[in-house]
Amino acid sequence: MKEISMHILDIVMNSIKAKAKLVELYIDDSIKRNLLKIVIKDDGTGMAEDMSRQVTDPFYTTRTTRKVGLGLPMLKESCERCNGYLKIESELGKGTIVSCCFERNNIDRMPLGNMGDTIMTIINSLENCEFLYNHITDAGNFEISTAYVKEMLETGDIRDSETLLWVRDYVNENLKSISNF
Ligand SMILES: Nc1ncnc2c1ncn2[C@@H]1O[C@H](COP(=O)(O)OP(=O)(O)OP(=O)(O)O)[C@@H](O)[C@H]1O
Ligand SMILES: [Mg+2]
Repeated sequence: MKEISMHILDIVMNSIKAKAKLVELYIDDSIKRNLLKIVIKDDGTGMAEDMSRQVTDPFYTTRTTRKVGLGLPMLKESCERCNGYLKIESELGKGTIVSCCFERNNIDRMPLGNMGDTIMTIINSLENCEFLYNHITDAGNFEISTAYVKEMLETGDIRDSETLLWVRDYVNENLKSISNF
């Protein structure tokens, strides 16, 4: 993958597929601490203990169309290549927390990518599911949620194109204002 946001999309899609009612995405981007940490939390079906251990193995998947699940193993590999880690905490019937970390200044660390586009794509994929995104840098903190957007724009349908484009620009503008540079 060229950008970390592609990995984020993949992990969030897992949460949506697991019938989550709420998906939370936390990004902690710090030059001071030289880390880029990402946490994706859901209240979906969860996984049994042996499964959450096996899913980072590229030969494990519950998909029938293809034998190999790639999302989690590829993210794990990207993190470890950058002196980081991937951790899965999951409980059947409760939900899943995927946490991963990259050494920020590592030569192999991919750019984060465009978060406005990413959040727009995530919101467009939600079915009966709420979403929250919180992004922290050394300069500040930004948060947006589907609940907030619905209230702000007084819209029930958060997936119409005007709303999605507003979300994309709102995310990008706010991230610029807390950028580390
Ligand atoms: N948040 C989650 N909640 C419940 N089960 C999950 C979650 N994330 C992953 N899984 C389980 O782990 C498996 C492996 O996930 P992974 O993303 O690595 O591959 P995949 O989704 O099967 O395929 P791909 O991502 O390559 O399209 C999934 O098939 C699913 O059964
Ligand atoms: Mg997947």
